[in-house]
Amino acid sequence: MKLWGGRFTKETNQLVHNFNASLSFDQKFFQEDIDGSIAHVTMLAKQGILTDEERDTIIQGLEGICQDIKSGALEITEEHEDIHSFVEANLIERVGDAGKKLHTGRSRNDQVALDMKLYTRREVQEMDRLLKELLESLLCIMKEHTDTIMPGFTHLQKAQPITLAHHMGAYFEMFRRDRSRLQDIFKRMNYCPLGSGALAGTTYPLDRDYTASLLDFYGPTLNSMDSVSDRDYLIELSSAMSIIMMHLSRFCEEIIIWNTNEYQFIEIDDSYSTGSSIMPQKKNPDIAELVRGKTGRVYGSLISLLTTMKGLSLAYNKDMQEDKEFIFDAIDTTKGCIVLFRGMLDTLTFKKDNMRASAEGGFTNATDAADYLVNHGVPFRDAHGIIGQLVLYCIDKNISLKDMSLEEYKAISPVFEEDIYDAISMETCVAKRNTVGAPGPEAMGQVIEICEKYLRED
Ligand code: ARG
Repeated sequence: MKLWGGRFTKETNQLVHNFNASLSFDQKFFQEDIDGSIAHVTMLAKQGILTDEERDTIIQGLEGICQDIKSGALEITEEHEDIHSFVEANLIERVGDAGKKLHTGRSRNDQVALDMKLYTRREVQEMDRLLKELLESLLCIMKEHTDTIMPGFTHLQKAQPITLAHHMGAYFEMFRRDRSRLQDIFKRMNYCPLGSGALAGTTYPLDRDYTASLLDFYGPTLNSMDSVSDRDYLIELSSAMSIIMMHLSRFCEEIIIWNTNEYQFIEIDDSYSTGSSIMPQKKNPDIAELVRGKTGRVYGSLISLLTTMKGLSLAYNKDMQEDKEFIFDAIDTTKGCIVLFRGMLDTLTFKKDNMRASAEGGFTNATDAADYLVNHGVPFRDAHGIIGQLVLYCIDKNISLKDMSLEEYKAISPVFEEDIYDAISMETCVAKRNTVGAPGPEAMGQVIEICEKYLRED
């Protein structure tokens, strides 16, 4: 059934119908469509626009449709243009004339704006919850590994020793910001467009505050033209999801590197790895690679939505129907990646000995050796030069700083004493870094407490 057959004398061309229809993808929010309709008729009855009896008949019909779709008794068939037409047609079939009053004071423009918001709002909350679970996993690892020493990198070159807790803490911060972005989007989007009509409100005395409160919005939107054509929140969400995926992709990249034969910092659990069809020895980090790879899809949704909305005149234009498939895909992809990534992380084994051995190499304690000299009165620039010479000497002999004898140290600078060995041990290098945000045990302890409190309260 068409909602708009009256002014037409010819049947729609079949290709036009197919091209125009959105049912194949907007059926995803049948529940939201029905919830919105129930709120709408409840308000219509309160305002005396429908009788209580009509309201009850419509609501019963809508609830029946919802149950039947869920149970599979009612199939969503392709002859309808979109989910709104499908539900309305079905309602009329079930309850007769009362059903024809459902759309009083409403347009599909404010209806679809509402459905998308209801759908997205729920997904934003769900994604926030999944991120919180990921943060809980990260915090567990942080608490367990405050003294697991590993090399910290810049330029993917060993730089200074850190701890695994510190490294995980960096991702904790990223995903914490991601949550705050989602929560921020929620606050901005949570206003109800229903009652905006096609673009200019309606002549019926609708109570928009009431519908907004029935649907748990903060209140109604304040401009009916903007209400039916605002897709900012979808663009913001795509942007937030792109950043989440960017963070996950960085984490995945590290997992892939740590999992190589060369590094062997971690072992990915068998249940989260895959094999090769030809090379029997292989155990591949496919999940990390796939999450990294799916980042592109989510970025695609952002660019696609921005481009769709660019230059659109007010108010509703059919272009906006193109918001759905990309955003649905991006939401499902991002949620799926968070869940899979967390599962992989929870089951990883960290090879502490390999991490530590790696930190010992590569002169990660060179800065601390320079600091030692500075603490003994040598100006930093001179100290930097002296340690540079030491490093050259060690490279030549293929040893590390801790393997040099005191005589060798003294030959380069007389300032060195026996306590240099303690000053450049991995433990000291980490333990001395206690500025806020650093890997030292005191600093890390404070941050872990802050993170725990945050997860308890937010
Ligand atoms: N399927 C449409 C969409 O997704 C619903 C709104 C239709 N409105 C209209 N005036 N044709 O945007």
